[in-house]
Amino acid sequence: MKVLVATEKAFAPVAVNQIKLVTEAAGYELALLENYKNNSDLIRSVVDVDALIVRSDLITAEVLDAAKKLKIVVRAGAGYENINLAASTAHNVIVMNTPGQNANAVAELAFALMLCLARGGFNGKSGTELRRKSLGIHAFGNVGKHVAEIARGFGMDVYTFDPFVVEKDIKKYFVKVCNTTEELYSKCQYVSLHMPSNEKTNKSIGYDLLKKMPKNAVLVNTARKEVIDEEALLKIFEERPDFRYLADVAPDCKATFEEKYKGRFIFTEMKMGANTEEANLYACLAAARQIVDYFKTGNEKYRVNK
Ligand code: 3PG
Repeated sequence: MKVLVATEKAFAPVAVNQIKLVTEAAGYELALLENYKNNSDLIRSVVDVDALIVRSDLITAEVLDAAKKLKIVVRAGAGYENINLAASTAHNVIVMNTPGQNANAVAELAFALMLCLARGGFNGKSGTELRRKSLGIHAFGNVGKHVAEIARGFGMDVYTFDPFVVEKDIKKYFVKVCNTTEELYSKCQYVSLHMPSNEKTNKSIGYDLLKKMPKNAVLVNTARKEVIDEEALLKIFEERPDFRYLADVAPDCKATFEEKYKGRFIFTEMKMGANTEEANLYACLAAARQIVDYFKTGNEKYRVNK
């Protein structure tokens, strides 16, 4: 059995060592394709592998066509919109994710971005504090829950909207429940996005919601750039000089921000949310264990392409 770890953005070495330990203990061969630059490198490397571990790497129909022996792909992370699920199913390839393993790292990045903005990028001038400011957590999944825990420590006034989570599970985190997105955005100076990217959520954060945010609004996006309606965001930025945007991965309209809105945004150079040794370790270990468990017992618990 051959397992390939294919990562355009390599995992921390400590995490790769764990994959080695788990796969070797199961008697499997481990191959690494790290920091590759072209899709053709990936296509060449998958021809003889039985299992694949990836991050945001694009697993297209072309990659699946080349991977003649492939039985399982595990996305070491939560979001799996980078994997062509229909083509995987058509190729009899099981796709899994490792939900929750990156959640704390992403939540900490949301606070790093908020703090950096609130303190003016540590520029020597007086900034502001997060304490007693209102924070809206849009979607209360694994990352949203970690954001809620951290926000409590900061003394923020925390709200959420998530129609898929029951009220009693939200209240355990000392978070107030909003019944609509409009209510959430109207109440909160900071809104942090934690929904997946899919056909329902993409471009769902639009003008009507953003314009409801109170004075000195800060939108924090450590989810996916696709969930934002970028035209709407630019319109708000034009109309409201008090509006700020913080994002893990710059929007497609980054050049306009750089030209017109200096000081009102922070964009990471590269997707950084899950880039901690700890998150890499948890996600890698989960991915390797899920592969071994699938081959040994047929466990499909984290399968996402039914
Ligand atoms: C996730 O979906 O878990 C995160 O976005 C991590 O993505 P990455 O592994 O590409 O950093």
